[in-house]
Amino acid sequence: MKLLVIGSGGRESALIWKILQSNNVEKIFFAPGNGFQNEKTQNVQIKAEETESLLKFARDEKIDFSVVGSEIPLSLGIVDLFEKNGLKIYGPKKEPAKLESSKSFTKRFCLKYSIPQARFATFEEYEKAIDYLKSKEVSFPIVLKADGLAAGKGVLISRDFKEAQEGVKRILLQKEFGYSGEKVVIEEFLEGEECSIMAVCDGEKSVLLPTARDYKRSLDNDKGENTGGMGGLSPSPIVKEGSDFVSSIKDKIVDRALSGMQEEGHPFKGTLYAGLMLTENGPKLLEFNVRFGDPETQVILPRLEENLLEILVQVSEGNLKFKNFKTSLNRCLTVVATSKGYPASYEKGMEISGIKEAEESKAIVFHAGTTLKEGKLITNGGRVLNVTAVGEDFNKCREKAYRALSFIKFNGITYRNDIGLKIVERV
Ligand code: AMP
Ligand code: GLY
Repeated sequence: MKLLVIGSGGRESALIWKILQSNNVEKIFFAPGNGFQNEKTQNVQIKAEETESLLKFARDEKIDFSVVGSEIPLSLGIVDLFEKNGLKIYGPKKEPAKLESSKSFTKRFCLKYSIPQARFATFEEYEKAIDYLKSKEVSFPIVLKADGLAAGKGVLISRDFKEAQEGVKRILLQKEFGYSGEKVVIEEFLEGEECSIMAVCDGEKSVLLPTARDYKRSLDNDKGENTGGMGGLSPSPIVKEGSDFVSSIKDKIVDRALSGMQEEGHPFKGTLYAGLMLTENGPKLLEFNVRFGDPETQVILPRLEENLLEILVQVSEGNLKFKNFKTSLNRCLTVVATSKGYPASYEKGMEISGIKEAEESKAIVFHAGTTLKEGKLITNGGRVLNVTAVGEDFNKCREKAYRALSFIKFNGITYRNDIGLKIVERV
């Protein structure tokens, strides 16, 4: 098969790494790709949001199957476009992708289909939002969310009325989050532990992927700003894979969303990622994503003992034949090496060395923000590399990953030192 993988991050590199383990891959085009190179892969200089150009490329090259990594092309309707033109592609269409691209849509959808979530209200007008914040219904802290895609940044937690008023101003009046700030969702603050569950869905049925956790904050001990993810590990230490608890999450959250989408006439095919808060009153949905998580994918795929390409093709055909996925009992952990300054501003163009040595020390190095320039590998983004290790426990994974990381050098290399540290697995 000739494949096209759309994206440029660590997640897409991990998808390619896993797909390359299938026997029937002739070539993988990677658009726009990163510095990863393999005899079967080739970068294509088309950005993920240039959906028409991607279509033209896929038709010209007679691509058999395409895989979309990130939410932006999905929210632009790339799957609708490819399928209308008779091309096979993995991911949800534009309408079901609203489960990620519109928080107000998702809140109403969850209400309609009894998916447990935080209580909420939605406003377009500043004055009405402020009146609501002054009402008896509201207690603090409270959570404000800009409606649309905001690269994980559109969520503000306000401790009191003053902060909340300021937050509503930033979202609705100052439009700090761009067009996604046309509506604000104000929701109850939930307390508990967070976890995320991912499932592949063929429109009707879902099969859970291995569990994972990510490390969102930039600094050790979960200090610093929120980022796209500074590291991750699988399985999640707080929910046991295969347990009744996980099956109840599948029933109450993933499968209700699937049957709801079917009822709406927009079956969901692709990866459904549920971000959850495990509260005293049971798991509640914080958000849906409609694609593989990054960096969760980088720790899940090394544990998945199945042919990923077969799964993705079956999903796109609406006929997933798997009942569950064989998963290794090993642990997996990834540490993200970032450019100095990330998630705020950072420089690009630093030369990278030591990947070969890191790989020889038995780690898997997934490329993210890297590129090749005049034959040299240089940094090209905030999250640069994902140094990933598999082992029988998280301590062994940590040793391997951090040892591998010690070989990798570039100016300003920054990473958290506490990924996988002091993990107590609940069984
Ligand atoms: P989201 O993009 O909706 O997942 O929100 C990003 C982060 O904000 C989550 O991972 C939580 O840490 C936090 N968050 C979002 N909604 C709530 C809520 N209702 N209560 C408490 N924390 C929340
Ligand atoms: N790691 C969170 C996400 O992919 O959205």
